[in-house]
Amino acid sequence: MPSASPETRADDALESVIRFDGVGMRYGRGPEVLQDISFDLPRGSFQFLTGPSGAGKTSLLKLIYLAQRPSRGLIWHFGRDSSKLHRSDLPDIRRRIGMVFQDFRTLDHLSVFENVALPLRVAGRKRKEYADDVAELIHWVGLGDKMDAHPQTLSGGEQQRVAIARAVVGQPELLVADEPTGNVDPAMARRLLRLFTELNRLGTTILIATHDITLVRALDVPIMSLADGRLSTGRRKASA
Ligand SMILES: Nc1ncnc2c1ncn2[C@@H]1O[C@H](COP(=O)(O)OP(=O)(O)OP(=O)(O)O)[C@@H](O)[C@H]1O
Ligand SMILES: [Mg+2]
Repeated sequence: MPSASPETRADDALESVIRFDGVGMRYGRGPEVLQDISFDLPRGSFQFLTGPSGAGKTSLLKLIYLAQRPSRGLIWHFGRDSSKLHRSDLPDIRRRIGMVFQDFRTLDHLSVFENVALPLRVAGRKRKEYADDVAELIHWVGLGDKMDAHPQTLSGGEQQRVAIARAVVGQPELLVADEPTGNVDPAMARRLLRLFTELNRLGTTILIATHDITLVRALDVPIMSLADGRLSTGRRKASA
């Protein structure tokens, strides 16, 4: 089972769900799209990641989800040095992360209910144990009347809500969301933000990448800003 391992370099890395130390990343032989990135996601924290289009937000999230490897520097996932992970370790680490992809990645051959329930089914939970909770969550994101629909028949904003429900349903240790409100109206964006803050209250560490300045201003939490592949940190008061 993935737990604190002796390969951890520093004790405080154990307190971080994710730690980047001097990370650079390039696609193939291209230029570095991320440079000298260092930050921590402390356990239980809530942070935003902002920056203009092309700044590298999705690329940074891909490193967190282990969909890309850094070209330099070190990344710790749950206290483990990711350069020492084996391929067989990846599914266990990914199961601890709820990921909302910018392009949703819902599964068209499954209904909305089955899409949302998938992480629970994969975890070996019984349908009768989770069916009510899954239905309640689907209602909460406003898709109660689309429970049996298939994603390709839904609008972009509806598919986005399926992707969000699927990412939060298992109360993961870490939730990473890439532009999770990019396709919904402001009232639904506020509702989804409440879902994230409630999950955070229950213990999930949260990182949300967004352009949406209204969303960022709604909470007084740390903000990481990317520009041209470089990171700076700050905080914006709710009243700013
Ligand atoms: N698969 C890829 N292959 C090569 N270059 C890529 C790839 N994906 C992204 N890039 C490049 O990496 C840089 C950062 O892209 P990324 O998608 O991380 O930005 P972003 O901040 O998420 O932008 P947006 O706000 O538009 O989603 C861009 O210059 C982009 O062209
Ligand atoms: Mg992006």
